[in-house]
Order: sequence, then C-alpha cells, then structure tokens
Amino acid sequence: MNSSSPIGIFDSGVGGLSILREIRRAFASEDLLYVADSACVPYGDKSPQFVEARSVAITEFLVDRKAKAIVVACNTATGAAITTLRSRFSVPIVGIEPAVKPALGKTASGVVAVLATSGTLSSDKFAKLLDRFGGDADILIQPCAGLVEQVETGELDGDNTRALTEKYLLPLLERGADTIILGCTHYSFLAPLIREIAGPKVSIVDPNTAIAHELRRRLESNDLLSPDPRSGTELFWTSSTPDDVKPVISQLWNADVQVRRLPKRYCRPT
Ligand code: DGL
Repeated sequence: MNSSSPIGIFDSGVGGLSILREIRRAFASEDLLYVADSACVPYGDKSPQFVEARSVAITEFLVDRKAKAIVVACNTATGAAITTLRSRFSVPIVGIEPAVKPALGKTASGVVAVLATSGTLSSDKFAKLLDRFGGDADILIQPCAGLVEQVETGELDGDNTRALTEKYLLPLLERGADTIILGCTHYSFLAPLIREIAGPKVSIVDPNTAIAHELRRRLESNDLLSPDPRSGTELFWTSSTPDDVKPVISQLWNADVQVRRLPKRYCRPT
C-alpha cells in the first residue's frame, strides 16, 4: 500500500454513491473502490453486531485490495462499527455522522430535524453527539423506514417515494423545523424531493462535502495523496447479484458501469 493505492468506500447499498460523487469531485486522480453490501441492505433495522461484522468483512476486502484509506459512507455503519474498524485496521478510516453541529449554526427557529435510520438514531454514538452539541435546541428525531429501499430501486421521485417522504417530513415542518439534517447517505439522493416538499426557506444539511475535506486532511497528514496526474478510476462491487444492482448504480452514478460480485468469503455466510 502506498500513495498510488486506491481509496476504499462502502455502504449497505447505493447511498454511499452520494459520498463517492463528492470524493470524485475533490480528488480527480485517485482510484476509488466502492462496495455496496446489497445482499444485506438495509442496515438500519439490523443489530449493531450484524452491521459491525459486515463492516469488518468489507473493510478486510478493501484492505486486501490495497486500499490506503477507508471511507465508511454510511451513518449506520459508522455508529455501529467505526471504533472497531479503527482498532483493527491501521489505514486511516473516515466515517460519517448526522451533521448536528452545522445544523445548529443554521437554524433560526431553533427546531432542527434529523432524518436517519433507526440504527443510527439508537446508537451510543448519536446519543453522545446530541449530548455534545445538542444544547438547548429542539432536535426532532425521525427514523424513516422504507426510504432506503426506495432509493435502492432508483425511485427518487415517484408517487410512493413522495408519499413516504411527505409522511415523515410534513409533521416535522408543522412542528417548526427550519433545518433538516440528512442523516443517511441514501437520503442525499432524495434532497431535490425534500427541497420541493419543504420549500425554499428550509435548510437541508448534508455532510458529504465535509467528508471529502476530512479525507483530504487524513491523506495529507499520512502523506498518502496520489502523486499521479492521470484521471482516477472507479471500480464497483456488490454482495448481491451484479446484474440486479448494475442498473441503479449506473443511474445514480450517471454512467454505464461494470459491477462485480464481492468474493464469497467477504459475503454474509448463508
Ligand atoms: N446509507 C446508510 C446510512 O447512511 C444505511 C442505510 C441502511 O442501509 O439502512 O445510514
């Protein structure tokens, strides 16, 4: 592993492509490896032990492919596994969590809503985040069962997705929320729909660009930024059937991509 090695990124499914997009924007010459654990999506309703075991297996795969850094492009996996990953692997590991602090800097009404999976919202890490930054703000917590599945099918603004999003969002707006935190990487793909439903006065806070900054900081401090001037590449894997997953990855990545099957030893035992 050296500075020319790739960066590994993973999520339960296609949500982390929203982070991959920011990483590609910020690092034109880095090679990127992306794993969608589609056989196990959604992570949000699984036990922390399950999500931790999957995160370790996928990180092992990426490190075996010589990844020089890992981005956990999933709030749920960060909550369940980042401490274990950092203790087990020596490469820099960057995670993602709901952007509570930036949201509190934006709200005028003092009412902030967090949309995330139930796994994220019930994690110790999230409880600590609220203790640390929550202060006196009114923070409304909204688990959004079903939204990840809508994004996994590529249905970003169809009737079902709209109805489900309205069901979660409208009560929060009625309670005065003027700032909405997207606490799940899948929801980034629903940002245009959320914007349409919430209207222009509501701020939508998405931490994706902050992840790219943090990754740069970690690569720089470890002397791991790619020295190559050429354009970087992206390779995609799934733990499910590649032909089933390829259409939605291609849709969200905006290119016709090749998707490989994750080798069996890194998949969930069946
Ligand atoms: N995209 C993930 C997150 O940021 C996981 C969603 C899921 O699989 O439930 O939390």
